[in-house]
Amino acid sequence: MPKRADSFCLLPCLLVLLLSSVLGVIDDPQSKQVYVVYMGSLPSQLEYTPTSHHMSILQEVTGESSMEGLLVRSYKRSFNGFAARLTESERQRVAEMEGVVSVFPNKKLQLQTTASWDFMGLKEGTNTKRNLAIESDTIIGMIDTGIWPESESFSDKGFGPPPKKWKGVCSGGKNFTCNNKLIGARDYTSEGVRDRDGHGTHTASTAAGNAVANTSFFGIGNGTARGGVPASRIAAYKVCSETECTSASVLAAFDDAIADGVDLISISIGGRYPNRYENDTISIGAFHAMAKGILTVHAAGNSPTLPTPARIVSVAPWILTVGASNTNREFITKVVLGNGKTLVGRSVNAFDLKGKMYPLVFEDYLTKGKILVSRYPFSAEAAVASIFRDDYEYYADVSSTPFSLLPPDEFDSLVSYINCTKSPQGSVLKTESIFNQTAPTIASFSARGPNTIAVDLLKPDVTAPGVEILAAYSPLSQPASEGIDKRRVNYSVLSGTSMACPHVAGVAAYIKTFHPEWSPSVIQSAIMTTTWPMNANTTVLTSTDVLAPTEFASGAGHVDPIAALNPGLVYELTKSDHIAFLCGLNYTSKTLQLIAGEAVTCSGETLPRNLNYPSMSAQISKTNSSFTVTFKRTVTNLGTPNSTYKSKIVLNRGSKLSAKVSPSVLSFKRVNEKQSFTVTVSGNNLNRKQPSSANLMWSDGTHNVRSVIVVYTDDYRSP
Ligand SMILES: *[C@@H]1O[C@H](CO)[C@@H](O)[C@H](O)[C@H]1NC(C)=O
Ligand SMILES: *[C@@H]1O[C@H](CO)[C@@H](O)[C@H](O)[C@H]1NC(C)=O
Ligand SMILES: *[C@@H]1O[C@H](CO)[C@@H](O)[C@H](O)[C@H]1NC(C)=O
Ligand SMILES: *[C@@H]1O[C@H](CO)[C@@H](O)[C@H](O)[C@H]1NC(C)=O
Ligand SMILES: *[C@@H]1O[C@H](CO)[C@@H](O)[C@H](O)[C@H]1NC(C)=O
Ligand SMILES: *[C@@H]1O[C@H](CO)[C@@H](O)[C@H](O)[C@H]1NC(C)=O
Ligand SMILES: *[C@@H]1O[C@H](CO)[C@@H](O)[C@H](O)[C@H]1NC(C)=O
Ligand SMILES: *[C@@H]1O[C@H](CO)[C@@H](O)[C@H](O)[C@H]1NC(C)=O
Ligand SMILES: *[C@@H]1O[C@H](CO)[C@@H](O)[C@H](O)[C@H]1NC(C)=O
Ligand SMILES: *[C@@H]1O[C@H](CO)[C@@H](O)[C@H](O)[C@H]1NC(C)=O
Ligand SMILES: *[C@@H]1O[C@H](CO)[C@@H](O)[C@H](O)[C@H]1NC(C)=O
Repeated sequence: MPKRADSFCLLPCLLVLLLSSVLGVIDDPQSKQVYVVYMGSLPSQLEYTPTSHHMSILQEVTGESSMEGLLVRSYKRSFNGFAARLTESERQRVAEMEGVVSVFPNKKLQLQTTASWDFMGLKEGTNTKRNLAIESDTIIGMIDTGIWPESESFSDKGFGPPPKKWKGVCSGGKNFTCNNKLIGARDYTSEGVRDRDGHGTHTASTAAGNAVANTSFFGIGNGTARGGVPASRIAAYKVCSETECTSASVLAAFDDAIADGVDLISISIGGRYPNRYENDTISIGAFHAMAKGILTVHAAGNSPTLPTPARIVSVAPWILTVGASNTNREFITKVVLGNGKTLVGRSVNAFDLKGKMYPLVFEDYLTKGKILVSRYPFSAEAAVASIFRDDYEYYADVSSTPFSLLPPDEFDSLVSYINCTKSPQGSVLKTESIFNQTAPTIASFSARGPNTIAVDLLKPDVTAPGVEILAAYSPLSQPASEGIDKRRVNYSVLSGTSMACPHVAGVAAYIKTFHPEWSPSVIQSAIMTTTWPMNANTTVLTSTDVLAPTEFASGAGHVDPIAALNPGLVYELTKSDHIAFLCGLNYTSKTLQLIAGEAVTCSGETLPRNLNYPSMSAQISKTNSSFTVTFKRTVTNLGTPNSTYKSKIVLNRGSKLSAKVSPSVLSFKRVNEKQSFTVTVSGNNLNRKQPSSANLMWSDGTHNVRSVIVVYTDDYRSP
């Protein structure tokens, strides 16, 4: 392994893409940015402790004593380095320090699929019922990096004029024209609304893009690319420039979108996990949207390499928060060896070496005409291809050169082949799609709860496809996440909670076309109580997920658009319920005003866990060996007028809770009738490394209304 590497690498940068759901860090007072400080391989001496070394470097350059929030991640398992928030001058000083190989900026996030809507049950064509007249009157506001107006996904062929309620404008800057599909554009960056990144084009086409047949990434993932509501209109609000997204822009975009008459807002941008609602621009903007009857759908955020508790950036109950899961389509990239053996790795490798064999070299600089094999990512511009080890169960990522990321066992057999063979040879094949029935499972990068502000409010709310999604892209942006890539494409593959969010915005819009009168909380409840449970096998803790088991990653489960049309019972919330919730969190009139934008005083307070939310969560003091908590809820009947719902409690694997519902049967005589009940949950000696969970089901024989119940201890974060 060489001591120094050149500035190009794959893996550290790949990691950094996961560091935030953001294209720039929002709400950052010292204008610090996340950088990855790559320090090469791990020193072999036993007394070396990477994290304290990282902290001492950080302390030296920042002069700050607390590393809280500065050190984002230490890389210490397969190579040395860390990710930290630094100012530009701190970045320069770090780069000059001994042992530092290179410093990469946190640029943009990653990856999204043609097959995802089929996977979710919203099939193409006549099998899916649609209310096309209303769908065409539905406007989705996308707060993002702009949009590529000429993309086929946004062609207005067959569209009539914008809906009458539309009050927005098309001010996309020079050489930017809207049409009857892309009806609005506003710029907060002075760059023009044209998307130079690809992210905004990708998310908009996922939510509401036209069905475009025969799309692929150089043949990979081929099929029809389409949004959840292809007949709906799009308004693009560009808040991210090429270098940053600012909270000021985000707030301005909310302000405009609400006034322009959008029906829904989708936002796949986030800052650091917030500590107070009034410090979180997205919470504030979305509060105003909720007050005007507009639902905000927001990405949960992406975490560094390993799942870490309490990193979720979207924590308000008036927002629908979305985590990322996989679909049953997976991209694999095979490596074939001279001995005939085939190894299976991951990547989105569109390059075809046509099976030609090349010499394999292990961690060597002399790579010209050869395939580099390395445990650590490093520059290999002269190499024909590179093969690295994947220690973190990644998704596949677009590469700028032939590439495959092998899981440790496959990688080790490659290394022993090289070590035991006189002239080791191999080739990297073009990526292919496989069907993987173990889905949905949560993506490793999807940010986990618990909620950093309201400990008794479960977040995220739901999950949706966010791994290896093919959707429209900006032809100004290179498709590869790393390196220099001269290719330009109209459709590309991305992953992230950013990609999951517009799937749920599409589902929410789809529901609204059948139920235009439903409030944001009714739509949110319908989506949350009709989910698929995650794959049963995901409740088994893996070594990397000990601290972050399933509900803190997947919330109520995976969205089911068809079931959500007909939820039976819903949990409704109004603006005053949200204010009572904030009062219950002891927000003062002053801070309430920062959120609600108007003078509010607390009259009724609600214990946060009694907010009429479709999930139930309680944090228990670690000093309580036994506990009893009560949740109060009220449901509204939107199903059959004359109906009787019976309750049932279903415990999840390993859960030792006991729960009682009172009354246990609810009878309704008419639609919109409300009935209240309580759920009393008790238990003892909670597992501190895992929340205990159960499901409350209300069923009338037709509708199954499921709420997850999660109880965890207050030392869960530091077991
Ligand atoms: C407008 O933008 C498109 C896309 O970048 C480009 O092809 C075209 O040449 C531009 N037209 C003008 C007049 O700049
Ligand atoms: C799909 O695209 C490929 C090339 O991109 C082309 O060869 C093929 O004819 C197209 N198929 C259809 C059905 O349009
Ligand atoms: C994708 O392309 C392959 C190979 O051309 C073809 O067999 C497959 O049917 C295509 N899939 C879709 C969904 O069009
Ligand atoms: C949060 O907002 C309060 C004002 O409500 C302010 O005093 C405080 O400094 C902010 N904290 C952070 C971390 O931004
Ligand atoms: C290669 O084999 C030698 C001994 O045969 C061993 O010492 C060395 O660790 C092996 N290298 C790798 C990378 O496995
Ligand atoms: C299928 O997906 C599961 C969960 O993500 C994963 O553990 C497994 O390795 C995948 N199977 C294949 C054949 O890739
Ligand atoms: C769960 O895992 C077991 C053993 O690995 C496997 O046989 C089973 O098919 C899996 N179940 C699902 C639903 O994926
Ligand atoms: C991308 O779309 C444009 C039209 O918008 C088309 O001219 C161009 O050929 C497309 N590029 C590819 C690679 O398909
Ligand atoms: C709010 O204040 C009350 C009274 O001081 C206290 O008992 C309660 O724990 C506080 N609630 C929160 C969420 O901080
Ligand atoms: C925790 O224990 C205290 C003292 O025994 C008790 O008053 C309190 O109700 C318990 N809390 C819960 C949630 O059970
Ligand atoms: C309502 O349902 C009950 C029991 O299912 C039935 O006995 C009663 O006749 C129904 N009433 C009406 C008005 O349909």
